[in-house]
Amino acid sequence: MLREGQATAIQRADYQAPAWWIETVDLAFDLDPAKTRVLNKMRIRRNPDVPAQALRLDGDELNLARVMVNGGGSSFKMDGNQLVLENLPEGHEPLDLEIFTTCSPIQNTKLMGLYVSEGTFFTQCEAEGFRRITYFLDRPDVMAMYTVTLRASKNDYPVLLSNGNLVDEGDLDDGRHFAKWVDPHKKPCYLFALVAGKLVAREQKIKSRAGRDHLLQVYVRPGDLEKTEHAMNSLMHSVAWDEARFGLSLDLDRFMIVATSDFNMGAMENKGLNIFNTKYVLASQSTATDVDFANVESVVGHEYFHNWTGNRITCRDWFQLSLKEGLTVFRDQEFSMDMAGTPSARAVKRIEDVRVLRTVQFPEDAGPMAHPVRPDSYIEINNFYTVTIYEKGSEVVRMQHNLVGRDGFAEGMKLYFDRHDGSAVTCDDFVQAMADANPASPLTQHLQQFKRWYSQSGTPLVKASGQYDPTACTYTLTLSQSCAATADQPEKLPFVIPVEMGLLGQDGAALPLQLQGEAVTSSSHTLVLTQAEQTWVFANVAQAPVPSLLRGFSAPVVLEYDFSDAELLTQLAHDTDAFNRWEAGQRLALRYALQAIRTQGEVASDVMPAAFISALRDVLRHPTLDAAYKDLVLTLPSESYMAEQLEVVDPQRIHAVRESMRQQLAVALQADWAWAFDAHSDTGAYRPDPVSAGRRSLTGSALLMLCLAARDSSDTLWPGKTYQRFKDAGNMTDRFNALSALVYSGATLAQPALERFHALFRNEPLVIDKWFSLQAGACDRGGNVLPAVKQLLKHPDFSLKNPNRARSLIFSYCSANPGAFHRADAAGYVFWSDRVLELDAINPQVAARLARGLDRWRKLAEPYRTAAREAIARVAAKPDLSNDVREVVTRALGKDLA
Ligand code: TRP
Ligand code: ZN
Repeated sequence: MLREGQATAIQRADYQAPAWWIETVDLAFDLDPAKTRVLNKMRIRRNPDVPAQALRLDGDELNLARVMVNGGGSSFKMDGNQLVLENLPEGHEPLDLEIFTTCSPIQNTKLMGLYVSEGTFFTQCEAEGFRRITYFLDRPDVMAMYTVTLRASKNDYPVLLSNGNLVDEGDLDDGRHFAKWVDPHKKPCYLFALVAGKLVAREQKIKSRAGRDHLLQVYVRPGDLEKTEHAMNSLMHSVAWDEARFGLSLDLDRFMIVATSDFNMGAMENKGLNIFNTKYVLASQSTATDVDFANVESVVGHEYFHNWTGNRITCRDWFQLSLKEGLTVFRDQEFSMDMAGTPSARAVKRIEDVRVLRTVQFPEDAGPMAHPVRPDSYIEINNFYTVTIYEKGSEVVRMQHNLVGRDGFAEGMKLYFDRHDGSAVTCDDFVQAMADANPASPLTQHLQQFKRWYSQSGTPLVKASGQYDPTACTYTLTLSQSCAATADQPEKLPFVIPVEMGLLGQDGAALPLQLQGEAVTSSSHTLVLTQAEQTWVFANVAQAPVPSLLRGFSAPVVLEYDFSDAELLTQLAHDTDAFNRWEAGQRLALRYALQAIRTQGEVASDVMPAAFISALRDVLRHPTLDAAYKDLVLTLPSESYMAEQLEVVDPQRIHAVRESMRQQLAVALQADWAWAFDAHSDTGAYRPDPVSAGRRSLTGSALLMLCLAARDSSDTLWPGKTYQRFKDAGNMTDRFNALSALVYSGATLAQPALERFHALFRNEPLVIDKWFSLQAGACDRGGNVLPAVKQLLKHPDFSLKNPNRARSLIFSYCSANPGAFHRADAAGYVFWSDRVLELDAINPQVAARLARGLDRWRKLAEPYRTAAREAIARVAAKPDLSNDVREVVTRALGKDLA
């Protein structure tokens, strides 16, 4: 039985072209927080390619006052949330349709549609928020030309912004004023935006390569202006990069970014008027860490790159979401790598991206929300803004890049724009353009099979085995692939998997590669695995080699090979592929961790053997490796990554093992950490560049290790030094790293430091988010974190309505602190279910994200498993759940979707 308002699943196969087109839209807003009036005048036309149908317009929480057709009254009816006009004039002449509605932005806590944040009006229309502003064909394949007039109190809302160009502005009666904006490009309604409020802007005039003048603006609240320099620089770099790398120029006179502190996601690519979460705009050396600076650059790039990949060419329907998101993530990752410059800094960025994929996307693919990069059905589209769509989607684009080469990829992009500029298309259209532009490539040769990356969910498993024949001097490499059934699909067919590889000698030197019957290539080669099993023979291999497989993580798969410890140590010391060098260390650490997790009894204090510790010491002391890279090698795999490797997960056991391993690293390398701290401490005047940021991150890790080691020896030197650094730090990175070291090591100085930190930054919301988040992620001694989190819920600075704040406290505890969250008394799960329900009444989109936190409950050992299922069932049993949360918990329980 469906409750009222309960949606059913939407199927990709049901796609139909719209029965009507909307050619132009003229919107007039009388902005008022309690009651905003919206007059929507559209020119509409029947789609001649589709049998005649009624016009059905989407709406959500609107008050309808008037409908007029061609200047006169018209009959209409409501069907659920849709406004239906059945008796419109026949024929294909355009019609004028006028709809007058009101809405209440101040009551809009979902932050979708038109809402108020700190006295300023903002909109968020992707994916289906425009229907909360006016009745419309709210689907991305209906693209229209927009004219927008904003009217509001001049005193309260001096700045009035919308998409495109400002063509008129002036004063009205009663202290009101107006601004009229015209967007020169047609667009789907999800790219509409308006902003009205008291804002100030940093401005920059630029000239593009093509010689066109543009005005760039970053709008923030007064007082935040000095935190916008980095965002503006990032925007200028983005504009230059897209021209240089892809020949794509800015197509607008004016490009605006506006920051708001109330935002469901990271940022939004509205045409010419990007709206950002303040977290991804504001950055100053005293309030933002190096990671924040890097995130600002990458999100500014991401949204700017959408201007072509998403806006000029958009999605036919929301099942094609990865068409714009996967491609745009690929572009922002490449942008960050190109900005980073050195090969080593590029490798660091690649490792960070792969880490996200493996710790978040692989679990998604193995859990109840598994879906292909191009899903087949959904209940709530907001639930499909996932790591699969974004990060795996980017990997699928990256594989195409690897299969056609860098130049071939640029050709493919060119053909994609030649064919589809100005239209709404599918993922198939993208791959087809890539293939057609590269007729001789393996992508084109295996095109139909390659497309399985879009249609099949699940993470493929590639098993490798090698055989060396010393008499024939040949090395035979066999690769096989399989993919386990996923929650959504029982059957999988083989994928096209590019496996970049090389061979190392026992001393670590790169061996020349020569496939039998072919010429010597170089020291690296890409094998294209297409069958269930395939074999390659390498000739003139002078010694038994160590294979270096899946270099640069050339495909989003799990690679299994029976490496000996010695082989992995060789790779860790010598592999020329920086990714695999890091990977070798991770494989060893994971191997020892899993052994200790599976062993009964108390966790040993020497989980890792001396040879591995000493190899890590060599990396830490290495004369030429970058600090950022060393820091990644010395960081153990996360608890969630370890959990994914196990059939049955005991979160407390995993936590205890990882803690013990970290303690072992801290104690065994104590002198080396002290050296590393001193050797990397001077990073000069603050600059967020990768080299000095790497030094800061390594010294931060060193401090934590030294504080951990101090616990064993009850020495107070390093905790004292750490507190000193916390007090004296000249930038937020050093300050926050020192504070974290105190908190994570459970130092007694942690509490006074936290208090001091709050006092210093009480007026900096983004820093207060860090303060909440750090405490929610603290090390759990005797179950002390949950009571602290509950206490913090009552803190005057806490608010459930602000998504950043809710995430900083609740998500940091429920989703990022497994050792504290998975309690044998189930109190963590009860807390989770209370918060999911509480949030659902305010903001279903954010609630559904939190609801994902128990996706992997089936893998848990008892008593966690039963307790977690009960908590999910408790949420599912609540009447009037949002579609968002209902879809997530229903899938988690494994029930049929309504
Ligand atoms: N399109 C945005 C991006 O990836 C994502 C986004 C921002 C979003 N806000 C949203 C998606 C709200 C759904 C709902 O750049
Ligand atoms: Zn995006």
